Order: sequence, then structure tokens, then C-alpha cells
Amino acid sequence: MKKIFLETYGCQMNEYDSELVRSILKKENYEFVTDEFKADIVMLNTCAIREHAHRKVYGRVHNIRHARGKDSPVMIGILGCMATNLRQELFEDKSLKIDFIAGPDSYKRLPHLIHEASDEGQKSYDVTLSEFETYSDVYPSRTEGGVNAWIAVMRGCNNFCTFCVVPYTRGRERSRSPENVVDEVRRLAAEGFKQVTLLGQNVNSYHYDNYDFAYLMDEVSKVEGIERIRFTSPHPKDYPDHFLDLMAANPKICKHIHLPLQAGNNRILDMMNRGYTHEEFLSLVDKIRTKIPDVALSTDIIVGFPTETNDEFEDTIRVVTKAQFDIAFTFKYSERQGTVASKKYPDEISEAIKTERIMHLHATQKEITYQKNLAHIGKTLTVLLEPYPEAKNKDQMPGRTDGNALVILPLGPYKGGDMVKVRIIAATPHALKGLPV
Ligand code: 5AD
Ligand code: SF4
Repeated sequence: MKKIFLETYGCQMNEYDSELVRSILKKENYEFVTDEFKADIVMLNTCAIREHAHRKVYGRVHNIRHARGKDSPVMIGILGCMATNLRQELFEDKSLKIDFIAGPDSYKRLPHLIHEASDEGQKSYDVTLSEFETYSDVYPSRTEGGVNAWIAVMRGCNNFCTFCVVPYTRGRERSRSPENVVDEVRRLAAEGFKQVTLLGQNVNSYHYDNYDFAYLMDEVSKVEGIERIRFTSPHPKDYPDHFLDLMAANPKICKHIHLPLQAGNNRILDMMNRGYTHEEFLSLVDKIRTKIPDVALSTDIIVGFPTETNDEFEDTIRVVTKAQFDIAFTFKYSERQGTVASKKYPDEISEAIKTERIMHLHATQKEITYQKNLAHIGKTLTVLLEPYPEAKNKDQMPGRTDGNALVILPLGPYKGGDMVKVRIIAATPHALKGLPV
């Protein structure tokens, strides 16, 4: 029985894909090990979104070859988004010695690719992107005893934001049928999972025949045993009124909306091909808050997009101040091979200016987050406790509110997966402190 060590980089979709890969290969009698030195095959499930992804994979492959020694027969396979992007380069670079490559839509071919590479000594690859593959017939091999299970309901993206590599590495949008998703959620509930997070590169543009994302969320919420439903990652264009009304009315759907702003200036938003102005974005924020008053909002923001001036960056600060997000994930623009931005706009803003802008943005958001956290003091909130062994500090229990804020509880007669009512007694910019009531 061959042993595999699988390492995953990047987003939740990649974590989920690794669960699919584990399931596919376990069926073929491969064993997964946690010690890379015991593995016959090392696979890296790579990401092309994060910064320096390129360099990281190269460094890691060299590091594995070096650690195992030059005569070691260990095979190395590259999976995920970098596979699609760098196929040519990865194979041509002889010093890397990569045995096989599989793109995000080719995991069912992995047994074949591994066989070709090991028994026939060929370099084998498949990075074809599919318009249909949703892996709806593969049940992921998840870590047991979890509280939250991820479940991909759609894959790919049709939006082509000019900075983003996803449409190239993961291809066009396609969705699983609602029945298929609900079947999987029922199985997850039976296994003891309390929360499901529906996943997709553009999750709220889910559609299957005439069924949309609101329909899917409503169906999933009817599954007994599942207490909470979350979703990520969405686009602001896909929040129709009936979906917001469902969110407001359905107690199982967490009152948390991720709303990636990316930039606050209309010229930059247009260059990014985001499809909205900052006025439209802010009126969506108002509408969401009117319909779902206690909603938590999070966002993604890029600073230093090509040609962004200081004044235009200040527009981002203005929108952030007006929108009052609970949390913001911030990124310095970095060019991605193959994107429209990489072809049309040179990455001309200096690193120093990007750093200055991201620090300014951080400071602005940190204060907003802190004020939001302070405003929770005195409230009674329901917290879903996370699996205990994952906690870093052994005398505390971490949990999440409906709005996804982290709450720290003292140890008590409760365990991961329990829903506990707590009174918030203190706040920092990063977390809340609570006592059970
Ligand atoms: N440069 C910087 N940030 C990026 N993101 C995506 N592509 C890039 C890029 N080329 C950010 C966006 C997206 C998040 C997942 O990553 O903000 O929403
Ligand atoms: Fe990338 Fe835009 Fe699609 Fe999100 S919506 S995956 S940022 S192209």
C-alpha cells in the first residue's frame, strides 16, 4: 500500500479539494500519512492567489528533494491552481523533478496519473478545465469529530475581475443539484456536524436549472441536526431581495455577510471590472442593514491597484468608514499571470506606498472592529463552541457568534459542538470574552 503525504495551501476550496483527493485515492488503496518522511508520494495542493505562491512551491519542492536525498524514489505531485498556471514551467524546470500534475478538475484522474508516473516512469499531467465537473459523486474524506463541515456547492467563476486569476485556474461556473447537496448535508448531520459552510468561488451566483442560491440555502436549513449555515465567498452582485429576506427570517442562516469591496474609488472599481460603484455598494450595505439589522459584515480590500492615486485610496478609507465592516481582509495588489490587469496595467505602485496604504487601512479598520466588539459588551449571544483540542490555550474554550465573532469562554461543562448562551463581559480588537448564562 503506497503512502501519501498531502499538504494544502490557500483557501477553503483547496482544503475541501484535498478532502476529495483523499477520498478518491483511499478508494484506490492509498494510505495517507502525517509524516512526510514516511511517504512514497508527496502531493502539494497549491494556491495561485496568495502572494509569492510561485516561489513557495518552488522552495517547497527543492526542500523535499533535499530532505529526502538525491537517490530517494519519493514522487512529487502538484495539484491545485498553480498546476493550471504553471504546467509548462513546472515540467520544463529539470531541477524540480516533478512527477505528475493535476489541475482542480482532474482529481478523478489522479490514480491514473500516479500509475503512469510510477509504473511507466512518465511525467504525466492533466490540467484540463471542465465545464461540468462538480465532484458531486465523491464524498469528501473529512477529519472526524469536527463541528463545521465545508461543502462545495459550485465551482469556478465567470466574473473576470481584472486582478483575479481564479477564472483561469478554476474555469467557468457550474453548480451541483440541490438534491445532491442536501443529501450530503443530511449525511453530515448524521455524522454529528453542527454547522455547514457552503463553498464556491462565487457561491451566491449558484444556480441549477431554475433553482438559485436562496432556494438552496432554504433547503439546506431544513436538514435536522444542522444548527448553523454559513457561505463563502460571495460577490456583491448576487444578493437579491428575496435572499436577504430569507436570511433575515431563517434562524439557522448565520447573520453574517461577506461583501468584498476591493476598492472605494469608482475609476479603480471600473478598472477592476467589479460591476458596481461605491455608491451602489453603500446602498447595498444600507439595504442589508435595514433588512437584517444585527448583521455582521466582512470584506476584502486590495490596496495599490495599478494607477491608484493617494486620493483614490482615500476613497477606500471613506467607504470603509461609512460601511462600518466588522472585519476586513486586506491585500496589497500583486500581479497574477494571465489576468487582464497583468496584460493591461503595469504593477507600478511601489511596495513602500502599498505598505503605507495597507497600514493606514488596517489602523482605520482595527478601530472600527474594536468599537464593534466593545458594543457587544453586556449582550447575551449564542456561541457555537469549536472543537476543544484545536484550542491553543488549554484553559479556555473558543466559540463563534452567529456573526462569526470569536468568543473566549472559561472551561466548563460543555464541549465542542455545543451551542451555549453567553454574556459578553469584555472585548479586545480581536475577540470577545464571555461567561455562560
Ligand atoms: N492581488 C491582491 N489581492 C488579490 N485578491 C485576489 N487577487 C488578488 C491580487 N492579484 C484578493 C481579493 C479577493 C481575495 C480572496 O484575495 O481581495 O477577494
Ligand atoms: Fe476572482 Fe472576481 Fe471571481 Fe472573486 S468574483 S473569484 S475576485 S474573478
